Amino acid sequence: MSKKILITGANGQLGRALQQLYAGNNDYELLLTDTAEFAGEGIHALDITDKKAVNALTEELKPDYIVNAAAYTNVDGCEVNSDLAYSVNSFGPRYLAEAAANLNIPIFQISTDYVFGGEKRTRPYTEFDRPAPESVYGASKLRGEQFVKGNTDKWYILRTAWLYGDGKNFVKTMLRLSETKDEITVVDDQVGSPTSALELARAIAYLLPTDNFGLYHATAEGSCSWAEFAAKIFELAGKNTKVIPVSTEEYMKLVPNQARRPAYSILENRHFKSATHFMFAEWEDGLKEYLGK
Ligand SMILES: NC(=O)c1ccc[n+]([C@@H]2O[C@H](COP(=O)([O-])OP(=O)(O)OC[C@H]3O[C@@H](n4cnc5c(N)ncnc54)[C@H](OP(=O)(O)O)[C@@H]3O)[C@@H](O)[C@H]2O)c1
Repeated sequence: MSKKILITGANGQLGRALQQLYAGNNDYELLLTDTAEFAGEGIHALDITDKKAVNALTEELKPDYIVNAAAYTNVDGCEVNSDLAYSVNSFGPRYLAEAAANLNIPIFQISTDYVFGGEKRTRPYTEFDRPAPESVYGASKLRGEQFVKGNTDKWYILRTAWLYGDGKNFVKTMLRLSETKDEITVVDDQVGSPTSALELARAIAYLLPTDNFGLYHATAEGSCSWAEFAAKIFELAGKNTKVIPVSTEEYMKLVPNQARRPAYSILENRHFKSATHFMFAEWEDGLKEYLGK
């Protein structure tokens, strides 16, 4: 009999990547859920901030696993809507973890490089480094991690970064802007690891049958600045658009009222490397696959 994976936020980038990855795999049945806006054909309505609804649906569907791909991911939006940020990114995971504990099933919680503050570092952050978020988004995601750990035993927490897939993301924004602009100004002093949602889905699928619970950094190998990322996107997509690199300080003058983002948020996938055979692809290779190059 196939195992049932309940996916929240199924219409988001990671949710869609999981659907793509598991398509045609008869060993697993995906129970797709998202906000009422996306509910309908094949997708159950589930607002993860509604504790009663979380309990009712999980009791009814009796999944074998929960993957929480739902989140409030608008980093600047979280600064102004902090109640919503904590509701979706902290309390939602808590209710899901409680439901997972009631059913005695594993839960995957997805977290972020922005749990770190990016203080000047010379080496990537490992799972042993102490988080120190500087944005509401990062703080709300960190609280979500803590709630998951504190409310169930069978938890996986995967911290990923700079995600792009089927949805709104930096790659799509750059390609859209390149249609009308010859030059694009992009921040050059924030470095991280652009990670394909499909690659993250593969990492989840790898861990899922293992019971190797715990905290994992889960990003593409290698790193770059946003400006280098943009330049690579244009190179691979055959665009002539020029990237004008600017500092965060200069960019903030052009686009004010932004959340603070870490200048350095490279994560080392130490747990994956030491305890599993799963290797993330280099970020350029993930991008090539995404762009069909
Ligand atoms: N995107 C990144 O760059 C990035 C970086 C690091 C970590 N992550 C983490 O990776 C995970 C996946 O991110 P993603 O990029 O796939 O996110 P995404 O594309 O923004 O998708 C999130 C999904 O969650 C849904 N959602 C929002 N509030 C909800 C609620 N109360 N109940 C149920 N569903 C809700 C969203 O619906 P609506 O569209 O209606 O809001 C959307 O379908 C998240 O945990 C995120 O924090 C993302």
